[in-house]
Amino acid sequence: MLIQWTDQFATGNALVDQQHQALFAAINQFQEALDNAAGATQVDAMLEFLDRYVGEHFTTEEFLMLRSEFPDITLHKIEHERLMLRVTFIRDLRRQDPALAPAEGLARFLGDWLQNHIMQWDMALFNHMREHHLSE
Ligand SMILES: [Fe+2]
Repeated sequence: MLIQWTDQFATGNALVDQQHQALFAAINQFQEALDNAAGATQVDAMLEFLDRYVGEHFTTEEFLMLRSEFPDITLHKIEHERLMLRVTFIRDLRRQDPALAPAEGLARFLGDWLQNHIMQWDMALFNHMREHHLSE
């Protein structure tokens, strides 16, 4: 099932919203590749992209947390790190041998994770920033 970005995911920060939309699109492309039984090369290229792009996106958010003195920065960063560990681990295993870590189910997991994470964690950050008049 594909995921759909709607206004409920809008944080009000233009850069973060753009990155979240790009992630929705990348996860959907990944899902479609898996659904169409794409070859390992294509699946791995998408996984490499997601690994890099998710990392860049988390850095953007973590910079905003630091700058706005977000009180739950440590817990929020741990959420990011747990996701990165999982994605990077699967990518690394697949670099050795794609059979070691089948990618089926990964796009769905990422889609669910992203939607829940935005609603629960990112919204808390941007609410904090708005309360302190730092939302840009
Ligand atoms: Fe986040």
